[in-house]
Amino acid sequence: MRKKNIIVVGLQWGDEGKGKIVDLLSKEVDIIARYQGGNNAGHTVVSGSLSLVFRLVPSGMLNKDKICILGNGVVVDPVVLFEELDSLNKLGIEVKDRFFVSYKCHIIMPYHKRLDIARERLRGAGMIGTTGKGIGPAYEDKVARLGIRAVDLIDRDILYEKISLSLKEKNYLFKNVLGETVFNPDDLINKYLELGKRLKDFMIDSSEFINNKLDEGNNIMLEGAQGTFLDVDHGTYPYVTSSNTVSGSSLTGVGIGPTKIDAVIGITKAYTTRVGEGYFPTELKAELGNSIRDKGEEFGSVTGRPRRCGWFDANLIKEAAYLNGITGMVVTKLDVLSGLNKLKICTGYLLKGSIINHLPYSISDYDRITPVYEEFESWNGDIGGVRSFKDLPVNAQKYLIRLEEYTGLPIYIVSIGKERTQTIMLKNIFR
Ligand code: IMP
Ligand code: MG
Repeated sequence: MRKKNIIVVGLQWGDEGKGKIVDLLSKEVDIIARYQGGNNAGHTVVSGSLSLVFRLVPSGMLNKDKICILGNGVVVDPVVLFEELDSLNKLGIEVKDRFFVSYKCHIIMPYHKRLDIARERLRGAGMIGTTGKGIGPAYEDKVARLGIRAVDLIDRDILYEKISLSLKEKNYLFKNVLGETVFNPDDLINKYLELGKRLKDFMIDSSEFINNKLDEGNNIMLEGAQGTFLDVDHGTYPYVTSSNTVSGSSLTGVGIGPTKIDAVIGITKAYTTRVGEGYFPTELKAELGNSIRDKGEEFGSVTGRPRRCGWFDANLIKEAAYLNGITGMVVTKLDVLSGLNKLKICTGYLLKGSIINHLPYSISDYDRITPVYEEFESWNGDIGGVRSFKDLPVNAQKYLIRLEEYTGLPIYIVSIGKERTQTIMLKNIFR
């Protein structure tokens, strides 16, 4: 039987703890590839005394014998990429011959960042709360056919022409609409050719490369960034990121077909968080939200912004389950809920007298829905040392069983702390 190929996605609004889980599951695969997003992501991986935050490179990079790839669907800021590769090198983690970037990746340019930040300012109170990394404008240029691809960085004439074309409209906007200084292609060309020279050694065709590797009997894990409800189509639009985050997008994002995939693993926190603006039905505004935030250290790993916290939303996870075709889930940060008085799980939204089991279609309905909750008794004490389901406090066991019942998804893994070892394995995903 062939080795399993899996997709790992976040089921909420990102920050579900994918970094730790991807790192953990890396042992079972030969290749780890990202398929969308860019350095808006922040994946924290803790290994012994090492705590590393990756923004761009796949979370599997710490596993020295694994191949890691940025697929064509990722937008790459080469400056950030080389910072990360350099810091890995300093830790003695070799990247040569095992890290690759698709030649089709679109490049985040300095003007994308400036545009991202200026647009947010223009929106004022209606801001999205982006990470300000230029992600949206880079994807816009891709679709507008104005993008710079990785391969363009190795040809001076093409690069110059493409930067000039892209800046024609943008400089007008910067000058006349956004009140920003303009860019001159002459100031960018040498720096980006220099970056291209270095990037060249890592460039591959991710589609050809991965398909060949799979044919040779290797397996792959496709690592999602952000989360299901930040998806540009299926998320809480317009408060979303600019890529498709759901599992289906992983196929176009590296260039393989759906017949290659054996399992889709969804990661969810035992509660819910969201960073940035936008709808969040089970958000806890007062003290309780703050206490979850402090206990769970819920601050953005890229921007440091405090994350908004709230109850587990089973309604949301059910929707995420069918959007992604989830086969099983991983529940993270269960330890954070220890010692809270009462716990709640949202089982539906009340809208105009009836229960709806999906997010509202129209944004005007978000203000009209009331989450319906089921209450639970919590448990006390530190559960960070528990290694099997039966050793969890009875109420924690009950809580997990209810999560399974409400979402209709089996739990494969429970995470009860940052360390790799603070993990309860309920099912081996690869057997
Ligand atoms: P952008 O991706 O920087 O354009 O930001 C759009 C929205 O997605 C904002 O609400 C961000 O806070 C959010 N976002 C982007 N990346 C992540 C992530 O990795 N985790 C959580 N939220 C994210
Ligand atoms: Mg994150």
